[in-house]
Amino acid sequence: MMEIDFVRSRFIKHFDGKTGNVYASPGRINLIGEHTDYNGGFVFPGAVDKGIMAEMRANGTEDTVMAYAIDLKDRVDFHLNDPAGPRASWARYIYGIALEMRKLGVPVKGFNIAFAGDVPLGAGMSSSAAMESCFACGLNDIFGDNKVSQWDMALAGQATEHNYCGVNCGIMDQFASVFGKAGCLMRLDCRSREFEYFPFKPDGYRLVLLDSVVKHQLAGSPYNDRRNSCENVVKHIQAKHPEGKFETLRDCTWEQLDEVRAEVGEEDYKRAKFVLGEKDRVLAVCDALNEGDYERVGELMYQTHEGLSKDYEVSCEELDFLNDIAKECGVTGSRIMGGGFGGCTINLVRNDLYKQFIATAKEKFNAKYGHEPKVYDVVIGDGSRKLC
Ligand code: GLA
Repeated sequence: MMEIDFVRSRFIKHFDGKTGNVYASPGRINLIGEHTDYNGGFVFPGAVDKGIMAEMRANGTEDTVMAYAIDLKDRVDFHLNDPAGPRASWARYIYGIALEMRKLGVPVKGFNIAFAGDVPLGAGMSSSAAMESCFACGLNDIFGDNKVSQWDMALAGQATEHNYCGVNCGIMDQFASVFGKAGCLMRLDCRSREFEYFPFKPDGYRLVLLDSVVKHQLAGSPYNDRRNSCENVVKHIQAKHPEGKFETLRDCTWEQLDEVRAEVGEEDYKRAKFVLGEKDRVLAVCDALNEGDYERVGELMYQTHEGLSKDYEVSCEELDFLNDIAKECGVTGSRIMGGGFGGCTINLVRNDLYKQFIATAKEKFNAKYGHEPKVYDVVIGDGSRKLC
């Protein structure tokens, strides 16, 4: 995690010399359960020890926000009452979350904010959810007497993506960022919103991310198309079974999917097929973890990669290459993590293989693409919080 003094010194320098309160929220990993959240399925994320830190203070104005993105050295001022909002994509997260918090009854007025992050941007670790939940946590504290619940803050973050940033995402990232707990993964049922903390200390193994450094940008990406495909399949199944209630693919069986295969076409069929399989895989991973069977967890991770690559089609050449290297090295499990279209693979590696795997991955990737993948050792950390 970054130092508070780093953010504080910039906050003092760029505004009026006064200090505010400091908040932090993490990015996330996800062991398994990809593209299942908006399909009412299960996910298995955890917060990481990297994220966003922001210093914030009410500035006494009605609606003027003065915002400084420390890493980008970019300053943007805007008005909350301006229906267009700011243009800079990072400032739209601040604008969006402030308006969503207002909808929840928090009387947000003007404020100053400076923030920085150590969660890699575009790596699929959800730097955007880290921003949303960090700013929500601050606004709730400064203007809302902390009356907004954790779930409502997570939902406000998701609504920010939908309403101001053009990504029709599910709830996994914001949930993980708000509810994370050091040392624990969380199994969330995205339909009922029930979840369970799962202590994760795989004896003899570790989790490592390999970042392809292929830019991962969900806005305007085919992410929303994937969601549309899933919803289209549900619509067809509903039409065939007017007696039933089909809200998401969670409500659909393999037989029902097969019934509509010809109508929806091969592309949508394959996408829905991946989602049904992935829903079952999350539950199978939970069983395997309970039995301490990490080899089984790894097998399921490879199956997820295969499905994300061939059926859901959210991989890219570089990620498939990293997955192949993992397989060749005998790594227990490896797959694309997060939305896809670039970003990281998540790898479950035996301790004795770790060094050799990282060295081989760097060498082979570099030989093919002219740069090494970045390596992030996963440390599972806490969720959104006030630091001071
Ligand atoms: C992105 C979205 C999440 C989820 C994942 C894929 O991270 O923000 O809601 O859909 O992709 O599992």
